[in-house]
Amino acid sequence: MDNDLERGDRERVNGQSSSVAREVPDDALLREMDGLEVYTPPRHAEGIVGWTMFDTPTAQDDTVVALLPKDKIGKVPNRGLVRIESEGDGRTYLGIVQAGPFAEPDGLRGDAPLVVTVQVRSGQMLLPQFHGRIHIELMGQKSGKAVTPPRFRPLPSSPVFLLDAGETRELLRCEGDMALGLAVGHDDLKVGIPSGRKSVMPRHTGVLGTTGAGKSTTVSRMIQQAQKAGMAVILLDVEGEYTEMGRPADNPEMVELLAERGIAAKGVSDTALYHLVGTETTNLRHPNRREFSPPFSRLSPYMVCEILDLTDAQQTRYWQAYENCKALLRELGIYPQRVMGRVEESHERRLERLDEFAEGYPGMTLGALLDVVSAFLHTVERQEDSPRLYSTEFRDSADRVMRRVKQSKAESAVSWRALRARLFRLMRLNVFDSRKPGVHSIDYDELARPGAVSVIDLSDMEAADLRNLVIADIIRGVERAQEKAFDAAARSGAEVPRTLVVVEEAHEFLSVERVRRMPNLFQTVSRIAKRGRKRWLGLVFITQHPQHLPDELLGLLNNYVLHRINDANTIGRLRRSIGGIDAGLWERVTSLAPGQAVVSFTHLSRAMLVTVDPTQCRLRMAEE
Ligand SMILES: Nc1ncnc2c1ncn2[C@@H]1O[C@H](COP(=O)(O)OP(=O)(O)O)[C@@H](O)[C@H]1O
Ligand SMILES: [Mg+2]
Repeated sequence: MDNDLERGDRERVNGQSSSVAREVPDDALLREMDGLEVYTPPRHAEGIVGWTMFDTPTAQDDTVVALLPKDKIGKVPNRGLVRIESEGDGRTYLGIVQAGPFAEPDGLRGDAPLVVTVQVRSGQMLLPQFHGRIHIELMGQKSGKAVTPPRFRPLPSSPVFLLDAGETRELLRCEGDMALGLAVGHDDLKVGIPSGRKSVMPRHTGVLGTTGAGKSTTVSRMIQQAQKAGMAVILLDVEGEYTEMGRPADNPEMVELLAERGIAAKGVSDTALYHLVGTETTNLRHPNRREFSPPFSRLSPYMVCEILDLTDAQQTRYWQAYENCKALLRELGIYPQRVMGRVEESHERRLERLDEFAEGYPGMTLGALLDVVSAFLHTVERQEDSPRLYSTEFRDSADRVMRRVKQSKAESAVSWRALRARLFRLMRLNVFDSRKPGVHSIDYDELARPGAVSVIDLSDMEAADLRNLVIADIIRGVERAQEKAFDAAARSGAEVPRTLVVVEEAHEFLSVERVRRMPNLFQTVSRIAKRGRKRWLGLVFITQHPQHLPDELLGLLNNYVLHRINDANTIGRLRRSIGGIDAGLWERVTSLAPGQAVVSFTHLSRAMLVTVDPTQCRLRMAEE
């Protein structure tokens, strides 16, 4: 009954037009076609998935269209790699499926009214015969083993072959021991980062994408893999998201994804959690938690002036106080230390190498500097008595301090007072030179130890400038320790140590606005980035606001993981500063699913679309 109805429908449709696919060619035509010599590609007939088509007036230089028989449509994935054996001239081209596979009816346009009518009226029954169409972006022309930019185009009707996994891997060069994920468009094609290659991680990395796009998951995966590869990792955790990395992933969604991929949930071993003295951490129960306090003497006076946002007049006073404080420390035998009239040699040598763009005067505490400023203010205000001094260095030597300060010409009580107020505010944070029991300065050799993962929780620091000062200081400390260890290993012929420094919320650390206001801070980072290339220190910057990153910073990065970015302007700007990602991939960036990313690394022959592996370790959800 039903069948009869359908047959009736079909006949009606056929009656209306003779051009519906299956029934189109009449018997005579079919017989004629059978008689024709069918085109058979002479070589490699096996493995052919389609043939290139003629170019149309809208054809573009780098792309070529190929048609696929119906049964091959399901075999040619988007982003799949293909080889085209140009028929007639013997040239071989390599390409990537940039769009498609599309299905279109034979001999008709897919949106022809007839096709539409048939489709809605009869569903599957009267589906015209169809074929596939793919748009191939030409990646290059093969000459021997090398691949060169294409100078010609494949001729029409050239056979198209899908590359197998081995060929694909060889062409994309996407292997590496640090597993990152799976390539989209390939069956089980793993994408990794080679941890041993100096030309990759030490060329610095940006992980960019909107909130919730998968950055932290990617970063935690990367860190765990880096540790496995024997690197030291230091993570500047601005939101306190990574403080529980030592525990296995327990978010049900991640656990399920891990199970699907056959990856075990596992915490990162050997983590240490650092937080600044007097600030909270998001994981108080971490088994290896360390409260730290940086010595004020580590900070470059130039950087301090920037952070304190001093006016020119205040800066002049700052330097006057700083120079006099130095002289007093020497005079009193505090630094260089003088024991029974003898000056400590090693201190003198250290002072000879002192680079005040990078560090302050050894042994100078914030309290001592503040005392000198107070003494100046006292003199300028022409007060008779001696001021009260508080630092351990100077409190018993007020007369010496006053004598010295009086020799130095000083004026303007207003700016001395303002300077004192600013230093006093910094002092009140109780961050520098802390004497609290159990609190130490960071041991940078320990941070740079191979296999150590150090999470620095900065989530409870409200003063952004101060936090940046701490971040800059830690990066610099790590760089020194890394250089020392690297040079020692290089001298002795041992395996060189490798270190990664990961900076979350990098836009807060190095925004365009901040870099303009604090040129010294950026110069420090830039110098470290350049030295890091030679001494195996890789920087990784993460941000959900890439539009705030200055071009100078993007200029330092050579590897990118681009998660979803919604804003077209931001993408436009990134496109101008990041090379090597083709237009088709840029278009994908706005619509990536969480965990998907466009990955462009120096070891890859071209940027790839990657489904990043789920993370094995636990991440804390950042507060919304
Ligand atoms: N690689 C991934 N695979 C599967 N899901 C992911 C992946 N990365 C992220 N997600 C999903 O997206 C959510 C947000 O990821 P997250 O890494 O915190 O993003 P971001 O740090 O960019 O804000 C995760 O909780 C998870 O649900
Ligand atoms: Mg995050």
